[in-house]
Order: sequence, then structure tokens, then C-alpha cells
Amino acid sequence: MAHVAYVQPTVDSTSVFNSNLFNGKVLFCTGGGSGICRGMTEAMMRHGADAIIIGRKLDRLTQAAKEMSEATGRTCIPAQADVRQPQALKSAVAKAIEQFGKIDFVICGAAGNFLAPISGMSENAFRTVIEIDTIGTYNTVKATLPHVRASKGSYIHVSATLHYRGTPYQVHVSAAKAGVDALSAVLAVEEGPHGVRSNVIAPGPIAGTEGADRLTPKGREFSVTIPAGRLGDVKDVANATVFLFSGAASYITGQILPVDGGTEHLRSVA
Ligand code: HXC
Repeated sequence: MAHVAYVQPTVDSTSVFNSNLFNGKVLFCTGGGSGICRGMTEAMMRHGADAIIIGRKLDRLTQAAKEMSEATGRTCIPAQADVRQPQALKSAVAKAIEQFGKIDFVICGAAGNFLAPISGMSENAFRTVIEIDTIGTYNTVKATLPHVRASKGSYIHVSATLHYRGTPYQVHVSAAKAGVDALSAVLAVEEGPHGVRSNVIAPGPIAGTEGADRLTPKGREFSVTIPAGRLGDVKDVANATVFLFSGAASYITGQILPVDGGTEHLRSVA
């Protein structure tokens, strides 16, 4: 085990992709008010997309939408919805159509997590995370699919890598994200003939996010071996997002792209 120092990545997507790549395109992002999904949304806006961000906390969404609009010169609007409520998601989709007239890209990112052993986890606790992560993804796909079909658009589902092996205190998220991975694969197969793509981004430990904070009890350092030699940054996930939604990835569907510095699949020399 090696303790890994955080190092800022040097590349961000605007130095690689055109800033007008997604001009005229519209992104619908659940969980876009904070953390990784906010970074994914802002990167898409920096390349020309307009966006609607969906979450439970309207204050946070409104502030994030304002800040991202100011930073990018694009339009971002908030919509309050709990992904566990299909009707609320349908209202968010209606708001997107009213504002922008279409939806090209969807990020299914809303998620919940906490550390708990299965022996101490209530049925309701397990069910809550399945309902947010897996059923919330299903609800989001159901609400958006007619519009994504119409635009021959694309989905990115935000999963994880912790279910590739048994990860302690993560039985709820492991089960939930395995379901998300499977849902994306079936979506890719069924909707491919309609011109719709579906892929998964599986972030490893990403510094400075609520997810990482929740999984790292105060006072404890990350102690994982990361072949890339640093923790992930939100920008790393954002860069992968821009690529996967771009035409450069038009023949990539049904895939899972870990953005984890090689943590899960490689051995380190350290
Ligand atoms: C044990 C817990 C718990 C904990 C909640 N519960 N926290 N059990 N340990 N730390 C139990 C509650 O007691 C309750 O069960 C049940 O879970 C539902 O809790 P509520 O608070 O009523 O649910 P809700 O308000 O809907 O909140 C959902 C949540 C919460 C998931 C529990 O943490 C949340 O809203 N999280 C959203 C933000 C978040 O988690 N972000 C991080 C995402 S990162 P009982 O039996 O008492 O009724 C991520 C990445 C994963 O997902 C991959 C990382 C590498």
C-alpha cells in the first residue's frame, strides 16, 4: 500500500477539443448540482452545450446553474426532482423541452452512499440506495428516452469500480452500481438501432468530492495503490465525458470506462 499525494492534472478538455463542439446541443444531468456531475456539466457547457441540472436541493442547484452559466456563457437551468419520483422527473423533462426544445445528452449521476456493514444495515437503508442509484437511473432513462431517440443522442451513467470485487461497507452501492452497469448495456443493445448510445463512466477515488469524503472517515488518508501516481480530479471525469459524448466516440456504445488511474485493473510498481 502506498499513500498517494494529490497532484492536479495538467490537461483539461478545452485544450484538446474545440470549444464549439456541442454548440446547439442540450444536456440533461441528474446530480448536476455538485461534485463530479457538476464538473461533467460545466465541461459540456465549456464546449457549447446548454444544460438542465436536476437534484433534490433547489438552492444548491440554482447557485450551481448561475455559476456555471457565468463561467461558460451558456445557459444552465435548475429543476428540482428526486430521481425516485418518476413524475418529478417527467416535469423536469417538460421544463427542458419548454426551455430548449430538445434533449441530446443525458448524464444519470444522482447517487447516494454511506459506509455501513451488511450486518448493521437496515432493509430501508439498502433499499434507499438501490432506489436512488438503480431505479433512479431507470426512471431517468424512461423520462428522457423519447427525446434522446428523436435527437439520436447519448447516455452516460456514472457508476463506480468498487463492485468489481468485494468492497467492505459498500454492499448497497455495489449492488446498485452493478445494476446500473447492466442497465446501460441493455440500453445500448436495444437503442443502438435507433441511433442512441449508452456508456458508463466508472470513477475511482476522486479528490474533493462528497463521495470521497463520505468514504474516507476524518483523519484517515487514502491508502490505495494508484498506478497513475495521483488521486483523480473531477476534471479527469469531465474530460472522459466530453470524449464519450463527442462524435469521436460514435462507434463506442455499451462500454464501461473506468476513470481511476488504473487502480482496479493494473498492478503498481510502488
Ligand atoms: C447506516 C444509514 C446511514 C449510515 C442513512 N442510513 N445513513 N444507515 N449508516 N451512515 C439509513 C437510515 O437510517 C435509513 O434507514 C435509510 O438509510 C434512509 O435514510 P434517509 O436519511 O431517510 O434517506 P434519504 O434522506 O433519502 O438520504 C439518502 C442517503 C443520503 C443515501 C441515505 O446519504 C443521501 O441523501 N445522500 C446523497 C448524497 C450522497 O450520498 N452523495 C455521495 C454520492 S457518492 P432506517 O432503517 O433508519 O429507516 C457515490 C459514489 C459511490 O454514490 C462510489 C464511490 C467510489
